[in-house]
Amino acid sequence: MGRVFVAGSINMDVVATADRHPKVGETVAGREVLYFPGGKGANQAVAASRLGAKTTLIGRLGRDAFGAELRAFLGAQGVDLGSVREANTHSGTAIITVAASDNTIVVIPGSNALVGADDVADVPLTKGDVAVSQFEIPLPTIAAFFQRARAAGATTVLNPAPAQKMSGELLALVDILVLNETELGYLAGAELSDGDEAAKIFAVARQLQARADQTICITLGKRGVLALAASEEFAVPGRAVKAVDTTGAGDCFVGALASQLADGVPLRAALAFANAAASISVQRMGAGPSMPTAAEVAAVLGAG
Ligand code: RIB
Ligand code: NA
Repeated sequence: MGRVFVAGSINMDVVATADRHPKVGETVAGREVLYFPGGKGANQAVAASRLGAKTTLIGRLGRDAFGAELRAFLGAQGVDLGSVREANTHSGTAIITVAASDNTIVVIPGSNALVGADDVADVPLTKGDVAVSQFEIPLPTIAAFFQRARAAGATTVLNPAPAQKMSGELLALVDILVLNETELGYLAGAELSDGDEAAKIFAVARQLQARADQTICITLGKRGVLALAASEEFAVPGRAVKAVDTTGAGDCFVGALASQLADGVPLRAALAFANAAASISVQRMGAGPSMPTAAEVAAVLGAG
């Protein structure tokens, strides 16, 4: 059984709930302010760990109260924090508004901007491990991490969110790219909109594919997942649930997928598992705290 190594961001999510989102220049009354552990890297690590994978997070926290709180939360989820160092600045912070289950997020990187190549230099990656990253830490750090991972025989998984342009060199280091339709359209320089047909999405994914053996998974929320793999293209159907907060659902998907790949589960089954896991996370408030356990996912999969 492989391990999951996540190099990525750790944030405190400061969440305001309201009946609707304000328009630009407008003030609306909110209901509550809530503090949830978040950050795409941390969320993915929490998901993988709660789902049973031995999980190490590589990142940086600020020397502040949020940093201490985030460290305590992550430790309690069983995430190995030996590679989470401190930085001389504030912890990553996300200012989130949740209204009618949809969110808007402003993320301030803080300590996450200081995760450097030296932070990933000693990570003990070996064959069968899964190396995961996202775009809330500097891209050269991700490239250094993935180079080491591939040299060690580990599988690299990139979730290029929030979307930003990346070099062809970085893309070529990715074994499995997991992204949503908007991110795919942006990276491929193609027009894609919500509800596009699978054939069109696959065509754009093929344009982006950097190597013939690179897998691209496009998450479509409640419409499921499309996967473009070396020798096949397939769809995993979505799950209709009542969402209360979709923050971190994509991260849940990525962490769950990594946990299954580390366990040697084939792609199609791993994606169905990840889909079920994400469908649970959207039914709970918050990012980190909404990640399910393996028993919860098994119950959803067993129910069909
Ligand atoms: O993907 C969700 C995450 O994005 C939140 O937890 C927030 O911290 C932002 O980084
Ligand atoms: Na959630």
